[in-house]
Amino acid sequence: MSHTFTSGILEITYIVSSGMFIFGLKMLSHPDTARRGNIVAAIGMMLAILATLLFHEKDGKHIGNIGWIVTAMALGTVIGWVIAKRVKMTAMPQLVSFFNGMGGAAAALISMMEFLHVSPELIARSGMANGHVLAILLGLMIGTISWAGSMIAFGKLDGWIGDLRIKALRYVNVTLLAVLIGFIVFIMTRRVAASAELMPYIYIMFGAAVVYGVLFVMPIGGADMPVVISLLNSFTGVAAAMGGFLYNNQVMLTGGILVGSAGTILTVLMCRAMNRSLLNVIAGVFGGGPAGAQTAGTIKEITLADAAVLLSYSKKVVIVPGYGLAVAQAQHICHELDKLLEDKGVEVKYAIHPVAGRMPGHMNVLLAEADVPYDKLVESDEINPELPETDVVVVIGANDVVNPAAEDDPSSPIYGMPIVRVREAKNIIVMKRGMGKGYAAIENPLFYHDKTRMLFGDAKVTLQNLVAEIKNL
Ligand code: TAP
Repeated sequence: MSHTFTSGILEITYIVSSGMFIFGLKMLSHPDTARRGNIVAAIGMMLAILATLLFHEKDGKHIGNIGWIVTAMALGTVIGWVIAKRVKMTAMPQLVSFFNGMGGAAAALISMMEFLHVSPELIARSGMANGHVLAILLGLMIGTISWAGSMIAFGKLDGWIGDLRIKALRYVNVTLLAVLIGFIVFIMTRRVAASAELMPYIYIMFGAAVVYGVLFVMPIGGADMPVVISLLNSFTGVAAAMGGFLYNNQVMLTGGILVGSAGTILTVLMCRAMNRSLLNVIAGVFGGGPAGAQTAGTIKEITLADAAVLLSYSKKVVIVPGYGLAVAQAQHICHELDKLLEDKGVEVKYAIHPVAGRMPGHMNVLLAEADVPYDKLVESDEINPELPETDVVVVIGANDVVNPAAEDDPSSPIYGMPIVRVREAKNIIVMKRGMGKGYAAIENPLFYHDKTRMLFGDAKVTLQNLVAEIKNL
């Protein structure tokens, strides 16, 4: 096959793959199409890889080491497949963070390899001061930070790394960042015969970026983790886009830019959902501080029989799902409850808080799995005005996202975070196992509110019993 022909096929495949990424991403924005969107983007990626292996040519040579490449891909596919198949729904955020870290590591490794391959002609022409080297160094710095930071986020979400809240860390981090930028300037202003001479600086830069990535995520905790994960996700995208510049590879560039921009948009949206600035999140103020307001009042319980009657004779019920619903895997029985109530003429809606659960869209995914119609899911901002006319709000395994301290207590670590204003409803039933705290580890005055009745127990068991009770009415 002639070179022009193969490079033509390669270019066309890259355009098709880029299109598939864009369509796939668009389809991810709705639960009905999300699964297909994922598959479309994955096929796009497969096409891009296959076309590169088959048709990429440089100086008349095709890609070598095919055996190694295919073996590595097969191994990676098997490991990734098995992990993704086995992971529990509740451990999904850790997995996302881990996989994201792998992307950052890949980008950093590419940079390290490619630094050694900076062509002597380029060096003779402009020294190290050129766009190619800049892309390598930025890819190395951002990819490494993303990898190291994601591994720490993985450990934190998995519960084996705690928070390290030392104020001085902020200054250490700013200094490290300045050092990293200093290294980029230093390396790019060197006059050398070959890039290999500068490799020791590359290793030091790598080490500094690892330390920065670790220290950047260490102080961040509490409800800020999702923001950090999506920020790290955008870093990986940018690092991959640097690879796209490096290889002049359009599909790598498109993929990187899509991940980078989607991650950035998500980061901004989540900051808005929590009413916090990104700087505030990165400075790591959240999640620490006082344990929240002292709670006044007493805990009042409700029996299953009373709860069944209250719900059955309501006109309007709003269910507020949270992390506990995912832990209990109670989504199916929850949907059964809502269908049962609707059969009795009760209007049932779900209030979806943007950071309920442990990952963006956690509740949407969970409820979609149980076939809850998407139009029943209402964002918290939209449902709040309806709550005063709601007869019963049923809070299932949610805690922080319904904590009124976010509105009432300026000393609370979650002060300013928008919440589902459940106390405005006429009655509140809260299902949880005991008086355990939520992710932000603070007290929740809602549980002591006059209108609140607690229904203690595992959400799945409680819902099963409640459904049985309602059926017996
Ligand atoms: P949380 O505040 O974490 O509260 C969950 C509650 O569920 C706990 O208080 C727990 O109380 C209860 N629970 C646990 N297992 C249960 C079970 N089997 N049955 C019944 N209840 C159970 O949840 P939330 O309101 O969804 O808030 C989410 C929090 O996580 C926010 O602070 C958010 O910022 C943070 N976060 C969110 C994300 C994203 S992107 N969504 C990512 C990371 C962190 P008991 O122990 O008493 O049962």
